[in-house]
Amino acid sequence: MTTEEFMGKLAEIKVCPVVVLDDVADAVPLAKALAAGKLPMAEVTFRTAAAADSIKAIAENCPDVIVGAGTVLDREQCARAINAGAQFIVSPSFSDEVAQYAIGHGVPYCPGTCTPTDITNALRYNLPMVKFFPAAAYGGLKTIKALASVFPQLKFMPTGGVSTENVNEYLGFDKIVCVGGTWVCKKDKVNAKDWAGITKLCQEAYDLTH
Ligand code: 3PG
Repeated sequence: MTTEEFMGKLAEIKVCPVVVLDDVADAVPLAKALAAGKLPMAEVTFRTAAAADSIKAIAENCPDVIVGAGTVLDREQCARAINAGAQFIVSPSFSDEVAQYAIGHGVPYCPGTCTPTDITNALRYNLPMVKFFPAAAYGGLKTIKALASVFPQLKFMPTGGVSTENVNEYLGFDKIVCVGGTWVCKKDKVNAKDWAGITKLCQEAYDLTH
């Protein structure tokens, strides 16, 4: 998938589910639950030991779901994610080694940024979009607008503290392609294997943003 195709898909769905999985057995039912709620994408975070196997399971069993890796901090994790089938890579910070590895393997990379310096680093790789993280804690839309005024070519994916309360505020700004968030796949619902509950959260988010 090219970066343009990835951004096109994000622009369509508007909310990228950020997923934390402790048990690989939950990966496929969760991905199906997201897709049933019209959010056929999963950013599976490398915060748990189950991340790489979960990506592999989703990539092999859910062809309609775009699966990527989040919280990718270094080259080694990036390699494991891409080998498992990750179609995109997201990180909380900007990383040269992740950028080089992902771009070198033709996989879209969305680095976390929150300062002009972070963004300048990302622009060295001609990245058209960055994650703005942690969005709410770093000033939310006000800060994104200030950053966008000096980086007019850049698009943003705010993540961190996005919810049903503020999602449309973010999406109302044309430099924002989509948001990321865990609220559509809450940890307690994953732990309870409440797949119908997750589908409902996704469908609500979809209906609110479309
Ligand atoms: C992330 O992993 O990108 C963030 O932790 C998501 O933040 P949220 O839980 O506030 O959506």
